[in-house]
Amino acid sequence: MYPAYIEVAKFQKEEGAKRSFQWAYSTEKMHKKLYEKAFEAVNNDKDVTLGAVQVCEVCGYTLEGDAPDRCLLCNVAKDRFTAFK
Ligand SMILES: [Fe+2]
Repeated sequence: MYPAYIEVAKFQKEEGAKRSFQWAYSTEKMHKKLYEKAFEAVNNDKDVTLGAVQVCEVCGYTLEGDAPDRCLLCNVAKDRFTAFK
């Protein structure tokens, strides 16, 4: 759905909406990787093992591991990430 939303936002010249949908789309791709990892563990009768999951409080960018010095999507500093362990 995000590609269509992004195109509509471009057509309507809604830059803020376009940016938000692009961030959400990028973040959902990372969520997909985490879900796939959990799914694989469940299919092997195991619990998923994850490192700290970092979430950018500005754009929602999510990654497993250490927070980057700057968010790869919105460029805020590392201290804007929240770690979930
Ligand atoms: Fe961000």
